[in-house]
Amino acid sequence: MSGVRRPRARQTVLRLSMRVWDAPTRLFHWAVVVLIATSYFTRNLTDITWHLLSGYTLLSLLLFRLVWGFIGSETSRFSQFLRSPVEGLRHLAHFTRREPDDQVGHNAAGGWMVLVLLADLGVQVGTGLFTYDADDHVPQGPLAHLVSEDTAEKITAVHSFNFNVILALIVLHVLAVIAYAVIKKHDLVRPMITGRKRLPGATRQPRMASSVLALLLVVLSACVVWVVVTRI
Ligand code: HEM
Ligand code: HEM
Repeated sequence: MSGVRRPRARQTVLRLSMRVWDAPTRLFHWAVVVLIATSYFTRNLTDITWHLLSGYTLLSLLLFRLVWGFIGSETSRFSQFLRSPVEGLRHLAHFTRREPDDQVGHNAAGGWMVLVLLADLGVQVGTGLFTYDADDHVPQGPLAHLVSEDTAEKITAVHSFNFNVILALIVLHVLAVIAYAVIKKHDLVRPMITGRKRLPGATRQPRMASSVLALLLVVLSACVVWVVVTRI
């Protein structure tokens, strides 16, 4: 027997394609991207109707996502992806470490980013409902008549300013996705498009909720928004 050490064959883990994101969550994500762009490009049109419609659609989808966060698929539930802030920081601490991508759903840091993004979008549509045209002294948002002119003007200022905060968060979000691709070689985008990801064979397939239930929830959310903007 020679004393030469043969390089040990690298252990290969069998990976299987698994569903990690349900269709409703993926459709929600890409619809939000389109609606934010639509809201931005329609903000200064003479006819504000398109901006309002885009905003109401986004509000309906956010309501849906809120409920889906409690009764939706396992990876979309807040209880699954909101872990302690310490865990989030611990995740960031080994960000530069190269390791295989075994993550099912949002990671501990990404979960907080998701919550902040959703909450800030909520602020944008919430303030939009109370917007007031200070030049012509007319309420523009459907609920502006419920508050004084002074309050509505302040809320409108928040609506204008908060869009910059949203832009900053989106830049951070996209930079984080790029950093995962470049530094860790983790492709997060493909699963957000196809819903599937290659994971170690021993990984338990996350439980997926019914898309029909999601559709019913979206319709119900749209009805609630319709009642709020037309009947109050
Ligand atoms: C319920 C939803 C929404 C309603 C009712 C609404 C309503 C309005 C109204 C009436 C204005 C004109 C205010 C003015 O005269 O200064 C406005 C401006 C604006 N909205 Fe919305 N909006 C909504 C959602 C959104 C969303 C989702 C975004 C983007 C994410 C957005 C971004 C903006 C921006 C950037 C402006 C321009 C502010 C400025 O001129 O400084 N809005 N919105
Ligand atoms: C308007 C811009 C965007 C907004 C507001 C936004 C918002 C969000 C939100 C709220 C989630 C959580 C999804 C959920 O659980 O419901 C998410 C996840 C995600 N987004 Fe975006 N997004 C935007 C643009 C993009 C773009 C351009 C990309 C592609 C480069 C992208 C890639 C992703 C990926 C890969 C995830 C899943 C992250 C993970 O694996 O944990 N997003 N985004």
